[in-house]
Amino acid sequence: MASYSLKINGKVKEVIADDDTPLLWVLRDELNLVGTKYGCGIGQCGACTVHVDGVALRSCSVTAFSLKDAEITTIEGLADEKLNPVQEAWKELDVPQCGYCQAGQIMTATSFLKQNPTPSKNDIRNAMHGNICRCASYNRIEKAVALAAKKMS
Ligand code: FES
Ligand code: FES
Repeated sequence: MASYSLKINGKVKEVIADDDTPLLWVLRDELNLVGTKYGCGIGQCGACTVHVDGVALRSCSVTAFSLKDAEITTIEGLADEKLNPVQEAWKELDVPQCGYCQAGQIMTATSFLKQNPTPSKNDIRNAMHGNICRCASYNRIEKAVALAAKKMS
């Protein structure tokens, strides 16, 4: 076990965890940031997506220890009192069904739109492709990403 600090959602948090503990478990079990979900645990579903230095990353597939110097953002820290344009679009289009995958979807979409603020339909499909939704809300997700891009322009 090692004791170290992580910068999460703008705050420094002290954690005690094994060097090889994935970030996902530190977020959920140590810090009670349970908006980040466990889906597959092997980097295949996107449910655990967070931002590391602004870029979407699967928290099940990276150790927390390796991110000691990084800025980590989870769904809980994505916006302050006001929703960000992606969250607004999600709300407007009533995207979630069961909701389980949605934090990961929103984290991926937000990071993607930072890199590509004027995406085509295909760009959106490709960017969101790796985030699995068992409820198959894919059409609404794609529409919401397009709407968020419009809101941000
Ligand atoms: Fe991390 Fe599925 S839980 S990608
Ligand atoms: Fe249910 Fe995506 S909304 S898994």
